[in-house]
Amino acid sequence: MDIIFENVNYTYQPNTPFSHQALKDISLEIKSGSFIAVVGHTGSGKSTLLQHLNALLQPTSGRLVLGNVELPGAHHEQIKSIRQRVGLLFQHPEHQLFEETVKKELLFGPKNFSFDLNQVETELNESLQEVGLEESVLNRSPFELSGGQMKRVALASMLLAKPQVLVLDEPTAGLDPLGQTKMMQLFQSLHENKQHTVVLVTHNMGDAMRYAEKVIVLNQGTVECVKSPGELIYERDRLKAIGLDVPEPVEFVEYMKTRLGVLWEEDEINEQTISRTLVKHLKGGATS
Ligand SMILES: Nc1ncnc2c1ncn2[C@@H]1O[C@H](COP(=O)(O)OP(=O)(O)OP(=O)(O)O)[C@@H](O)[C@H]1O
Ligand SMILES: [Mg+2]
Repeated sequence: MDIIFENVNYTYQPNTPFSHQALKDISLEIKSGSFIAVVGHTGSGKSTLLQHLNALLQPTSGRLVLGNVELPGAHHEQIKSIRQRVGLLFQHPEHQLFEETVKKELLFGPKNFSFDLNQVETELNESLQEVGLEESVLNRSPFELSGGQMKRVALASMLLAKPQVLVLDEPTAGLDPLGQTKMMQLFQSLHENKQHTVVLVTHNMGDAMRYAEKVIVLNQGTVECVKSPGELIYERDRLKAIGLDVPEPVEFVEYMKTRLGVLWEEDEINEQTISRTLVKHLKGGATS
């Protein structure tokens, strides 16, 4: 399903002294089947934007189209169908877990959406394996688990509800490096093999540039820019100005250009283009 934001504004606690406009005139399009990363400094509105994608929040003004449903103004059944089609993994998994056991937690979505529970029971172990959990967690309370394990339970629970769109708010934060890589690879394979749309918030610019087709950069509730990873490498100064890290290879190319006098002529920055340019430079052919 295609997702379209048209001049969307969102204000928390409007008409109170705590009123805060978190999204300002957002216009965006997320194509069905695409892999999108959302980056921005803390407080820039990433989680607020994501919570609109499964209608947990609705625009204060403007229009949001989620497939065949339009917000605001959708009725209860339409919102329920959005919740099934769009799975949201919260930034803080403890905010989305509430059942007594992991097993009940995993069955909650499928039950809610009237799936055949006998069938879902046969998928539980495979689903745990997919997200990197042992079967032994099934009878434990989700609240006894570590932060990383909770996140994995919330992810398994989300996947068992078979959404088309995976909306992931900092899914790898707090995981060990190997766990982070494996989880990113899981999202990539779900995207490639099952044509899921993926919308991922991350503070890891390297991941955003490695996995996403488009990167949405938010700054103080507005869209600063939407760029492909190839284009984003030329936005180093703009990203720095709004407090974002640029990936190490981008810094390295900048160093090569400014300190070593290397002439950079490639469109993309990756291991091959860096080594190719360095070899050329060392042979005397890539000097500015
Ligand atoms: N429930 C709320 N009531 C009032 N203001 C809120 C509420 N939730 C968030 N905000 C404010 O809205 C702005 C955007 O918050 P949001 O959580 O979307 O940012 P974020 O980009 O996800 O940040 P982070 O990287 O820290 O997760 C922030 O200034 C925040 O303080
Ligand atoms: Mg957030």
